[in-house]
Formats: sequence, structure tokens, C-alpha cells
Amino acid sequence: MQQKIINRSDYTPPHFSIDKIDLVFNLDVNHTQVTNCMQVTRLEQNKPLLLDGENLKLLSIKLNNQNLAKDEYQLTKHHLIIPNPPASFCLSITTEISPINNTALEGLFISNNIFCTQCEAHGFRHMTYYLDRPDVMSTFTTKIIANKKDYPQLLSNGNLLESGHLDDDKHFALWHDPFKKPCYLFALVAGDLDVLDDNFTTMNKRKINLKIFVEKGFKDRAYHAMDSLKQAVRWDEEKFGREYDLDIFMIVAVSDFNMGAMENKGLNIFNSKYILADANSATDIDFEGIQIVVGHEYFHNWTGNRITCRDWFQLSLKEGLTVFRDQEFDADLNSRAITRINDVKRLRLSQFPEDASPLAHPVRPESYIAVDNFYTATVYEKGAEVIRMLQTILTPAGFRQGMDLYFDRHDGQAVTCDDFIQAMSDANNVDLTQFKLWYSQVGTPTVKVKTYYDQKHRQFQIELSQSCPVTLDKKTKEPFTIPIKMALLTKNSQQANLFLLNKKQDSIIFENIDSKPILSIGRNFSAPIHLEYKRTIDDLYFLAENDDDAFNRWEACQDIMLDIITSAIAKNTIPTVEPRLYKLLNNIAHDSKLDKALIAYLLALPSPIKIAQQFKIDIPVDKIITAHQHLRQSISHNLYDCFTALYDANHISVDYVFNADQAARRSLQNQCLYYLMHANTVNGVKLAVEQYHTANNMTNKLAALSIIANIDVPEQKTLLDDFYNQWQHDSLVIDKWLMIQTGSELSSSLDTTKRLISHPQFSYQKPNKVRAVIGNFANNNFGNFHTANGDGYQFLADQIILVDKINPQVAARLVIPLTEWQAHQLTRQKLMREALELVLSKENLSDNVYELVKKAIV
Ligand code: TRP
Ligand code: ZN
Repeated sequence: MQQKIINRSDYTPPHFSIDKIDLVFNLDVNHTQVTNCMQVTRLEQNKPLLLDGENLKLLSIKLNNQNLAKDEYQLTKHHLIIPNPPASFCLSITTEISPINNTALEGLFISNNIFCTQCEAHGFRHMTYYLDRPDVMSTFTTKIIANKKDYPQLLSNGNLLESGHLDDDKHFALWHDPFKKPCYLFALVAGDLDVLDDNFTTMNKRKINLKIFVEKGFKDRAYHAMDSLKQAVRWDEEKFGREYDLDIFMIVAVSDFNMGAMENKGLNIFNSKYILADANSATDIDFEGIQIVVGHEYFHNWTGNRITCRDWFQLSLKEGLTVFRDQEFDADLNSRAITRINDVKRLRLSQFPEDASPLAHPVRPESYIAVDNFYTATVYEKGAEVIRMLQTILTPAGFRQGMDLYFDRHDGQAVTCDDFIQAMSDANNVDLTQFKLWYSQVGTPTVKVKTYYDQKHRQFQIELSQSCPVTLDKKTKEPFTIPIKMALLTKNSQQANLFLLNKKQDSIIFENIDSKPILSIGRNFSAPIHLEYKRTIDDLYFLAENDDDAFNRWEACQDIMLDIITSAIAKNTIPTVEPRLYKLLNNIAHDSKLDKALIAYLLALPSPIKIAQQFKIDIPVDKIITAHQHLRQSISHNLYDCFTALYDANHISVDYVFNADQAARRSLQNQCLYYLMHANTVNGVKLAVEQYHTANNMTNKLAALSIIANIDVPEQKTLLDDFYNQWQHDSLVIDKWLMIQTGSELSSSLDTTKRLISHPQFSYQKPNKVRAVIGNFANNNFGNFHTANGDGYQFLADQIILVDKINPQVAARLVIPLTEWQAHQLTRQKLMREALELVLSKENLSDNVYELVKKAIV
């Protein structure tokens, strides 16, 4: 193998600019012709023009309207090279591609008869030869030609200039995007689609047209996405002063898509999972996911499109920042406390393990083989935490000033993370040199906390020290700037404080403290770190009962339960629960002042995966599963009456609406159902079956079904069959049916997963199916993926090899669960590494899979 490693330090500016580009797509399922006319200007002397291209059939090439002779250009596997071009010229290239055979879903492909494109990061070079790098920005004009009957809608970026009939039952549309953009933001769609049409009046009273295109028959499910879009447009005006800039904003939802969605200028393309929803077919989580992703892609218009990345090492410039923005949008629309807990859960579940694995990399990476592999939890989720810390340090007002300066200074440019930080620094007159270590240093820091109370001097002292583990890059770590929010709580007072830890060790003394306070530290998860603070169990109970910081209150409840489980595992006994835990949970359950969604979270058990994360090495998988089940049993039995009453009180029969209040009640109701099922299977099954049949919404139906999918009772098959029969023609709902089975706790679930791969609904060509079956089993079925015999690993390795032949981007994501082998016991480590070796032994692996597997075997 001869993979090319790209290094951040090798960056050089482009040698040519492309001032404008005129594209013509003559669409055909098997043979699409792409003609690309570029106006090129030389920026540096004596450099060849080196255009990127992958798997292209070159039909013709003209320079200033003259056909180039064979010796005037060179074709290599990845490039078209013109050794000696003039200072300024027009280059016209025609290539042929085959959309129907494009199973990798990058470049131009077909999803359920809809032509669509995915160009980020390197998809454009799969359609034509071009300078496929984000710092080459050009003005795009696109003509689309296609059969009129099969493809009545022809869409591209910008504004429609012209459309009309052509011979042979064809028609055309001509689009022009007035904003210069890199080619990764190019998009084209052609299909027979339903459209939901609406409009919006902007802050400056401009009327803009909003359109959401969906597969025929699905328009009724696009209303929530449209509401979310309007909320997003308004939110960016109100919170960041950003107005939309074109006259039309379009979204197209397609069934087959490698990721969640893509922010192409004026023409976002979405995985239909993040557009389509109604009460019958979508859950509360789906509704919220749509708000977040619609917001995320819309917010990219300013953070990503108007200001873009100079090179792909700067990816977090747009992704970390845009995730931060979608998190804030979610918090404003829904519950701020619940949003924060969800975001931290996601970070800990995906980014912390990544940071502790051989795939660890900085928020601004240093090198890569396949750029798609850098769309990671570190770049996205940790990147967002870095932005959040900046906001904490600079205050929201200072952060907003920094954002204003950033937009002002860099609009229309392709810039770096340094440029972003410079704007923040200049606007606030602060030196952020040390803060920038968050972009360059790998690993999750640990902050150790020790506290001392001196009654005589009425002083409370907090000692803090930070460290960061040695990672593969072997660099010694400098201390980070870590914003630590804290409060001293006593029975009737509190004193809040923000402390900036920027040394290896530091301490704070609080004066005039009359009685020993309880410290609530890392409030609202103020930094992406591990906090190590040995608290007494009494302190934890105090926080679980009293902390007004919802995040830390939830953390305290989780810590109490984690402590019960980990001590039982350490002592090799079954968990022993003190009555005070029942009392605590009972009090929380009855606290009428608390948000019901928060109550559901405070009552929830830590998942086996979360328990496993308490062990940095030697994860005792089987003991974790057993201890988790025991604690679940104990809580269910002891609080049976409480959960029954709470279930009844929150069971609502009014029409389904997705709003905070209803969603909170459903969440609490289903948390109760979960416990009730484990208290008494006979009654629990009865209740779940009844809920399944009477529910007027997918949230409650699915909750009942997934709880019953964990119990070996005859009703399980009846309900799964009933669900299948009702929804077999609905691909997104079938994904849920697949996930319930592949995520089941039952030890038969690996066999079930294997069986589902042969089910007619499954297809290796459909990323959502691959993720629902293979990805869901490997990522979300902790106990059964990690069985001691290694069957789960072997299965995954076999599947990675198969998927890689079809879709390398999707295959590479499946490698991740195996890369976390270092945290496991030796026997499992060996089996996980063997699975990785098996993949690596295959010929013709994609760069994507090769890079991750190779890095994982250290
Ligand atoms: N930029 C997109 C987002 O986060 C995600 C994305 C990156 C993507 N690469 C992709 C989507 C490849 C689909 C395929 O909003
Ligand atoms: Zn994004």
C-alpha cells in the first residue's frame, strides 16, 4: 500500500485561482457528462496546474477553445496536469461519470431515483477535474439537463436564472450562485419530488423563499422541519445578528446519505432521518434531532460558508463552532439543562474514548490519509466545548463581540483556527496564547481537587492540579487554561465563582466561611475534563438533593449509583443499596418544582457503557452487566409503588404535540415503564403491551417495544411482528425496528443481528440500514458485542470488510468500536486486535479503513 499522508505543516497557498466556473451536467443514470469551463489565473510563476480528479473518464480538454494535444497535458491516477499554462486562460474539460455505480455516495450518486451530490470533503473531484481544496473559491454557474418526466425538479446553488424545454423530452435549468465558494459546497439535485413551500421575512424585511423537497408522498412529514428552519433563521438573527443572504433557501431530503446532512450553499442536502417526522412515525428524540440538524446546517451559512476553512486541518473552525451554535439553539428551544446533559453524555460516550484510544488527535489535527476520517467527535464535540469555554472565559457579551469582529474581518475568506482566536483576542483585548493549547494538545486533562475547611479561621481552601496523559505523539503537555465553575453550598447560602486554572497547580481560599460548605465543582460541565474529587457519600447526597446546578445534580445522582456498582465489583459482591438511595429517588420523583424531563434523568441508572468508562483499564464486562441488573432490580422493587403512581400521573392521552412539556412527561412515563418491567415481568409485560397498543404516538409505542425487546417473553415476537407489518413500507420506521432488535440485551442478539443482515429490508448500499444493524450492535449493545468468546468482534471485522467494498466512509466508522481495545481485559484486547488484524490482512482496503485500522494496531 502506498497511502499518501497529508501534513498540516505542508500547507502552501494555491498556485492558481479559478475566478469563475461554468458547469453543465447532462444527467444520465449510467453515463453523465460533466463539462466544466474555468477561468483560471496564475498566481505564481513556473508552476504546473495540477487538478484533482478521481475515477474520471476524460472526454475532451480545451485551453482557450483549442483542443489540447496529448503531449500538452498529463493524466495520472489522481491528477490532470498542465505543465506550462499561460498567465490567464479558459480551460474547458468534459468528463464522463456513472452515478448508478457510485455506491460510495461521494460526488454524484442516485438515491431512490433522485440524482444528488455530496462534495465535502473530496467529492467534487469525482465529477470533474478541479482544484479541490477549500481555499480556492469561485463563482459557480450550473446548467442541469435531464429527462423531464423522471426529473421535473432540477436544483443547484444560488438563484434560478433560466429554465426551459429541450429536444428529446429533456429540459434544463440554469443556476447562478453570486457568492464565491469552495467546491465542497457545490450541490446538484434532480428528481421527482414533493415540495413544501413557505417564506420568511428577514430582520431587514427581505422576503425569502423556503423550500423543502422530499420523496413523493412525504410532504406531510416536512412541516416540523420547516418550523425548525424558520426558528433557526430567526435565532441566528437574534443571537448573532446574522441575516440570510440569498433569496431562496432549499433543503432536499434523500434516503441514502453518508452522514446526517450537508450545508451546501442555498441547497442543503439531508439524510431524510433529519427531515421527516410526524406523531405516528417519529419519536420526541427524532423531532429534537431535526431541530438540531436543520439548525446546524443553516448556521453553517455564516460559520462555514461565508467564512470557510483554509484547509481541512481547520475543520473545527466551522464544525466545532457550528455544533456550539446548534447546542445553544437546542437549549433555547427546549430545556437548557437537559440539552447540556445530553451534550455532555455524547461527549463522554464518543469523544472521551477517542481521546483515550490510538485514534486520539488534537481538535486541529496534524496529519491524515483519508480526510473523511477527521469528521470526528474530537473535531465536532470537543471543538464545541472549546468554543463554549471561550464564551465562559470572555463572558457571553465578550464572546459576541469576538464573533462580530470575526464575521466582519473574515467574511468571504478561507481562514484558520488561529484567525478565529485572534478575532476573539482582539475584540476582548486578552492574550489567548495559552488557551490555544486546546487546539494543539491531545488528550483529556484530569483535574484533581482537594478541599480543606479551617473552622478556626473560617477559611475554605480548594487545591487544584491538572495533568494530561502521555499520548502517542509523546509530546510533553503544557498546562491548559481550564475554566472551572464552582459554588460553595451550605444549608441556606451559596457562593458562586469562576476560577481559571492555568497553572499545573493552584489553590483558592474563601474567607469568612462560617460552617463547612459543600463544593459543587465543574458546574454545568464547564470544561471537557475528568474531575477527580473524592467526596464523602454524604456530600454526594447533599448535592443530589440540593444542587441548583442541574448538571451537577444529575452528576451526583449518577455518581451515587456508580459508586454502588463499582464498590460491588471491587468487592466481588452484589450491589448493596442503602435505604437513603430509595429515599432520594422517591423525593426526586415527588418534587413538583422540578422539570419532569430532569426528574426522568435523575432517576435513570448509568448505562453499562457509562459504568465501563469508570474503568480506564481492565473493564470487567460481565461483572458490569450483572451489577447493573442487580441495582436495576433493587430500585425497581423498592420503588414499585412510586413508579406506578408516577407512570399513571404522566400518562397523557391528549393529541400528540412535540413540545417541552409533553416530551418531558413521556420521558418520565417511559423511565417508569422501564423500572416497572424489571420489578415484575408479568405486570410489566402487560403494561408495555397495553401502552404499545394504545399509544397515539411513536415515542410511547417504541419505548414499550424496546423495553419488551429486552425480555424473553412470547409477547415480544407478537409485537415485533405487529410493528413490522404495520411499517414495512416505511424505511425510517423500519430502521427503528432493526435497532430495537440489534440493541437488545438478550444474549441472542448477535444471532438476531446476523439474521437481520439477510432480511429483505437490509441493504449494504443503504448507510442507514448498515448503521441500524451493524453499527447499532457494535456501538450500543455493550454486553453482547463484548462477549468473552470474541464472536462480536469477529462479526464486526467480517462486516467491515464487506461494507468497505461498497462504501468506504461508512465502513471506516464501523472500525471505531474495535479501536477502543486498550481499555479492555487482556483476553478481549487480544481478540479485538485479532479482528483488526483480520481486516488489515485484506487486499485493496480503502484508504479510509486502512488508515483507522493501521492506527489502531499500535
Ligand atoms: N459538513 C457536514 C456537517 O457536519 C458533514 C459532512 C462532512 C458530510 N462530510 C460529509 C456529510 C460527507 C455527508 C457526507 O454538517
Ligand atoms: Zn457541520
